[in-house]
Amino acid sequence: MQTDISKVDEIVMRYGRRKENLLAMLLDCQEEFYYLPKEALEEISKQTGTPFVKVLHAATFFRAFSLKPVGKYPIHVCMGTACHVKGAPRLLEAFERELQIKKGETTKDNLFSIETVNCLGCCGLAPVVTVGKDVHGKLRQANVSRIIKKYRSREGSDA
Ligand code: FES
Repeated sequence: MQTDISKVDEIVMRYGRRKENLLAMLLDCQEEFYYLPKEALEEISKQTGTPFVKVLHAATFFRAFSLKPVGKYPIHVCMGTACHVKGAPRLLEAFERELQIKKGETTKDNLFSIETVNCLGCCGLAPVVTVGKDVHGKLRQANVSRIIKKYRSREGSDA
């Protein structure tokens, strides 16, 4: 997918092209593209006069950023001990089956991607999965399909 550089331009302008606003620019780019395309990092580097390696360093240092395309609703399946014993591996399989992608991949419509994490810090709710900013605790395989439908209908797509 081609990166719309005019959007990057808008973001950089919003922060007055000031290098001390680098993180804010990266956050806005992540929100705009759902990841940080290399072209966006290059443009930020050029316009703020920050060496590319510095921009890249900031983009790789913080977990909030992703350098590869992720879905609008990234799915994180917790595989920490508490979630694992309560069936997280089967939940992961259910999401993979429902979306027809594997862990580390993104759906063709760019709505969902699947990753695993080690502990989301709310083990009392095990097994836990986050979809976008939402936390789904005590999740059962039987509910996976309904959850995906809910986000799809929000986007007006039932595919
Ligand atoms: S192990 Fe899953 S939230 Fe802690």
